[in-house]
Amino acid sequence: MNKLTADELREMYLSFFESKGHKRIPGASVIPENDPTVLFTTAGMHPLVPYLMGAMEHPAGTRLTDVQKCIRTGDIDAVGDSAHLTFFEMLGNWSLNDYFKKEAISWSYEFLTTKLGFSPDQLSVTVFKGEGVEGESGYIPADEEAVEIWKSLGIPDERIYRLPREDNWWGPAGTTGPCGPDTEMFIDTGKEKCGPDCRPGCHCGKFIEIWNDVFMQYNKNADGAFEPLGRHNVDTGMGVERTICMMSGAATVYDTEIFAPIMAKIDELSTVTPEDAELALKSRRIVADHMRTATFILCDPKGGVKPGNIGANYVLRRLIRRAVRYSRFLGIAPGFTVKLAEVICEKYKHVYPELAENLATCKSDLEAEENRFNQTLDKGAAMFAKVAEQLKAHNQTQISGKTAFKLYDTFGYPLEMTLELAKEQGLEVDVAGFEEANRKHQELSRTTSAGSFKAGLQDNSEVVTRMHTATHLLHAALHKVLGPTANQKGSNITAERLRFDFTWPEKMTDAQIAEVEKLVNGWIEQGIDVTKKLTTVEEAKAEGAVALFGAKYGEQVSLYSIGEVSKEICCGPHVENTKELGSFKIQKEQSSSAGVRRIKAVIGNM
Ligand code: ALA
Repeated sequence: MNKLTADELREMYLSFFESKGHKRIPGASVIPENDPTVLFTTAGMHPLVPYLMGAMEHPAGTRLTDVQKCIRTGDIDAVGDSAHLTFFEMLGNWSLNDYFKKEAISWSYEFLTTKLGFSPDQLSVTVFKGEGVEGESGYIPADEEAVEIWKSLGIPDERIYRLPREDNWWGPAGTTGPCGPDTEMFIDTGKEKCGPDCRPGCHCGKFIEIWNDVFMQYNKNADGAFEPLGRHNVDTGMGVERTICMMSGAATVYDTEIFAPIMAKIDELSTVTPEDAELALKSRRIVADHMRTATFILCDPKGGVKPGNIGANYVLRRLIRRAVRYSRFLGIAPGFTVKLAEVICEKYKHVYPELAENLATCKSDLEAEENRFNQTLDKGAAMFAKVAEQLKAHNQTQISGKTAFKLYDTFGYPLEMTLELAKEQGLEVDVAGFEEANRKHQELSRTTSAGSFKAGLQDNSEVVTRMHTATHLLHAALHKVLGPTANQKGSNITAERLRFDFTWPEKMTDAQIAEVEKLVNGWIEQGIDVTKKLTTVEEAKAEGAVALFGAKYGEQVSLYSIGEVSKEICCGPHVENTKELGSFKIQKEQSSSAGVRRIKAVIGNM
């Protein structure tokens, strides 16, 4: 086997397909253009959808080859094991209604065996086994054509696995678009089978998927049905990181030359090794992976994705914040995100010049987000110290699930951090109790946001959070326009709208409604920070806060302030800045009951 670098692999791949009549095209932005079905480019096909659909001709022709930066964060919680990455590069060759299965499979085989030097004996493949009943609707035949082609190349039947849709059908991550059966190529690492059912697609590590050839003959329409596309496209994808890992004999992708400078920097910055070996390993990997992805997002030539609370912005925030919190386990000092971005830029800038071009803004965004989150974590640590002190004063050794959940929910303090700190202090944590509290909380927020989910890939709870802040602004505006007797009687929020009941004896006039909308939109536009502090009901009231429903609160309450506009005692959550609401519109003003009016309103996308 050749021991290649990523640079060599990219070049070898692109020139191999050039020799087969393909044109090199540049990869696209990681932030999709005109494709609302995904938050990030998850595969090379996204930027090519219009050409795959036949909506237009590609200027470079019908045979293309490229390297695409991809981001997949669906398994973000699995990152830290040996294989998951949230960012990777995908090599691809494309037929836009040009060649089909025979050429695609033969060239894949040729590249794997003659260029990369894999032995044909190491190769196992999977093909689509078909589904449905011939003659009935929904029938899709087994891909016997692919089987025959593999056999003709010398792959014996026992290494050709016929698998169902879950394994051998590829479509876009979004709901609609071009798709079709695929054939996947696996390298047998030579490890023992993990059991009698071990086969390609099993995650035990014996078989590593290295390449996927998709035969796009179908389109998945909005009803979820597969209709013939009337075209025969080929979309293939080979992961750079995995291939390099396989070829270098490295144990994991993190042990390859690709990650070497990033891991070296992390080790240089680390001042402790957690006693828990698994935590140490996981922390290094998470920091490396998430910082690489965040750097590519922040340096993307299309730009515009900044850490925030919804959609792609939220994914970016989550990546940075996870990196920060795992960096703490390694004793890495604040300011590390910027240092890692520099190393990542250095490693990739000759391939992706945008990294060097946008490094300065990337660094300032990272610094701001890192600082912001460090403050949150510090507050959580202070809260933890108090909890520990109280427990010890009472000779107790267990942090209750409720307290651990409060640390997490109110202070943004992740359970792992609580566990770590608890261990240091000789305390235990009721993890089952934490999970129970978390589950209850999630059920609750699901009920509040009941209703269909039209917000695309946005997390329901984020929409609800935005609506919640909008409710406070609406309340404040009603006070301004109608006076202090227009008080909240109730509120209900779903992912589609907010509903707000308040005391008021008569129908609001059109002018009053317009004035309320104008005030709320003005505050949104001003971009006012939403702040929260812990206080007592008495102090909050003394500050002029609105406390609803006769304030059935405990001793400590959270007081949310939106600049000088609004102060309410409430449990949250809220956005950090009113800008995140986008815009505000009242859809209905009607009677709810005697002396109570009801407003239904919506907020717009950012
Ligand atoms: N689009 C195919 C994949 O991502 C090649 O696996």
